[in-house]
Amino acid sequence: MISKPKGTYDVYGLEAKRWVKLEDVIRRVCTLFNYQEIRTPIFESSEVFHRDVNDTSDMVTKETYDFKDRSDRGLTLRPEGTAGVARSFVENKLYVNYPVSKLFYMGPMFRYERPQKGRNRQFNQFGVEALGSDSPLIDVEVISLGATLIRALGLKDVTVKINSLGDEESRSAYKNVLINHFSKYKDQLCSDCLNRLEKNPLRILDCKVDRDKDFFKTAPKINDYLNDYSKKRFETVLEALDGLDLSYEVDYNLVRGLDYYCHTVFELEVDVEEFGAQNVIGAGGRYDKLISDLGGPQTPGVGMAFGLERLLLATNLSGKKLVNEDQIHAYFIALGENAAKETVKIMNVCRIGGLSCDMDYLSGSLKSQFKKADKNNARFTFILGDDELNNFKINVKDNLTDEQETISLYDVYTYMINKLNKENNPCSGCNLKKE
Ligand code: HAM
Repeated sequence: MISKPKGTYDVYGLEAKRWVKLEDVIRRVCTLFNYQEIRTPIFESSEVFHRDVNDTSDMVTKETYDFKDRSDRGLTLRPEGTAGVARSFVENKLYVNYPVSKLFYMGPMFRYERPQKGRNRQFNQFGVEALGSDSPLIDVEVISLGATLIRALGLKDVTVKINSLGDEESRSAYKNVLINHFSKYKDQLCSDCLNRLEKNPLRILDCKVDRDKDFFKTAPKINDYLNDYSKKRFETVLEALDGLDLSYEVDYNLVRGLDYYCHTVFELEVDVEEFGAQNVIGAGGRYDKLISDLGGPQTPGVGMAFGLERLLLATNLSGKKLVNEDQIHAYFIALGENAAKETVKIMNVCRIGGLSCDMDYLSGSLKSQFKKADKNNARFTFILGDDELNNFKINVKDNLTDEQETISLYDVYTYMINKLNKENNPCSGCNLKKE
């Protein structure tokens, strides 16, 4: 037997339905906020992610899947969505027709991390990127979209943590004081932090190894080094958040793991014990230099991404199943070969009309077919034997009311539609009919 690679998983059965439902809710929320879908390649030229030799993020330095294709091109499986969207924005000159591009994406990402609950090597992200505006209000729109999604999924106990990394001038002033501070404790810093001290001292604040040491607690805080513009901008973000009935916490140590951020950064955490350290379900921030770094015009951007596995795990653990049960409109029990052939025709008519149906292709006993109808949670069970077939009749049981009757073989579709219409629910969940 060949096993799946470490850090990957298969999705099937009810779980696959939950994925579809989650994706459906996400698309609806994106429509509410007027974000358009963008689909970019799963692999990109390596330079899209490995742009800056001074990048200190774990994702870029340690976790990417890099490979050469047969023509010796350097390629990388995307570890996140933002850089690929930015590359596409520049390459397709999206800024020409859409001065503000509001985009969303969903799909697999790849990071060579140590797998554990809520952390995989192939995982899925839903992300949004709003490109072209530096308004603090669009930062708030992105956070609000995330919060709306969480509400739509029925999740509670979510905390928004937020901070501002300021503009370049503010960060440069702050970096100097951080270097002064942490240089005094060089002998106590882990090897990653020693490297960060040289390249990006802000990232030291993100260190999981050194975090609890005393000299961390006494480190200077960024808010004391924001210039007037950055301070005012952050205040506007917080004021706008106040108006949205959203609870948030300002966390001056929040710097985020990726190097492209400036001004607003944020994380959404859920309070679910089983998550352990992986309780951040979504995160994002502003990045005003990424587009120009990728060769495009100076274009500000802000975005956010959620881990779909973590969203599903959180909904699962909080008892929100997303899909209650498998449900189809009709299950057909056919007794004998002729009845089975006729059933295929009837099901075709029903399906074209937008009603979901199934039958037993293993030709089991009457008892086992009834069990299957039950298992599929069919609203109606139809039973067709030779006698009924010869009389152009079929037996039906309404599993909601337990009513049983015999109807004309030609009335199967209208029988169901009439009953469902009375409930004002002609074909729940079926887009074919609605169109
Ligand atoms: P990130 O914080 O690296 O940000 O990832 C966003 C989310 O993806 C995390 O909060 C987490 O839920 C999920 N995630 C990350 N790694 C894994 C993993 N190995 N297994 C399962 N889930 C994972 C970004 O990726 C940025 N591109 C977000 C962004 C968009 N910033 C601006 N625009």
